[in-house]
Amino acid sequence: MQSRAIGIFDSGVGGTSIWKEISRILPHENTIYLADSKYAPYGKKSKEDIIALSIKNTEKLLELNCKIIVVACNTATTNAIKTLRSTYDIPFIGIEPAIKPAAIRTKTKKVGVLATKGTLSSELFTKTSELYTRNIETIEIIGTGLVELIEEGKINSPEMYTLLNSYIEPMIKKDIDYLVLGCSHYPYLIPILKKMLSNKVTIIDSGEAVAKQTKAVLTNLWFLNPKPDLGKHQLFTNKNVTVLTEILKQTRVDYTVKRIEF
Ligand code: DGL
Repeated sequence: MQSRAIGIFDSGVGGTSIWKEISRILPHENTIYLADSKYAPYGKKSKEDIIALSIKNTEKLLELNCKIIVVACNTATTNAIKTLRSTYDIPFIGIEPAIKPAAIRTKTKKVGVLATKGTLSSELFTKTSELYTRNIETIEIIGTGLVELIEEGKINSPEMYTLLNSYIEPMIKKDIDYLVLGCSHYPYLIPILKKMLSNKVTIIDSGEAVAKQTKAVLTNLWFLNPKPDLGKHQLFTNKNVTVLTEILKQTRVDYTVKRIEF
């Protein structure tokens, strides 16, 4: 069991922002990453479709013999993790917009949340938001088109800059001091966001927290890989190998990238 891989999936290449944290915090673990780019974006799809795609990805990771599954996608977590947990007898770790730390720390009492339509309209997000943001104003903006541009390999394009600016402007006008990134693709936009936002605005993403939670669950279950070697990392995409390889450019660990059908 212990030497089996940690399975990770996302609607595309964005979840590699979580995979990077996992491979950093758990260097001896083997990982298998599925980029479901063929069916991206998930954010505009119905809850039923998101559940069906999450089941498809889970089945593939089980076929590949994974010991735990990390749903490295806010949209899939907020819409499908309940179903996954009640259907499969394997631990699941999810990712949700980190609204709680932002709500606790904000001084201006204004917090921006940038996420997909699927996440912002989900029951899970709505409940979490209601719980922690009673005395503050949240400015929730749907990042329409951002995932598509990232999936096309256009992170540093003029289109990206214009689109992102149109979502960030209203938040700046409202005087936010925290920006919660509620989509695992968005950490790749941090360098651009930093140019748009003053340094009074703190950007929060959940990658490190998810990796720490994965470590805690594996430790509690005695599932950690005891071998001293560095983990093996296999990344699979059902669409474009070049885009996935490009996004991994500055990664320090060794990995392989391959196109497969799933
Ligand atoms: N990375 C996914 C998320 O965290 C992107 C969703 C999408 O494909 O629209 O929500």
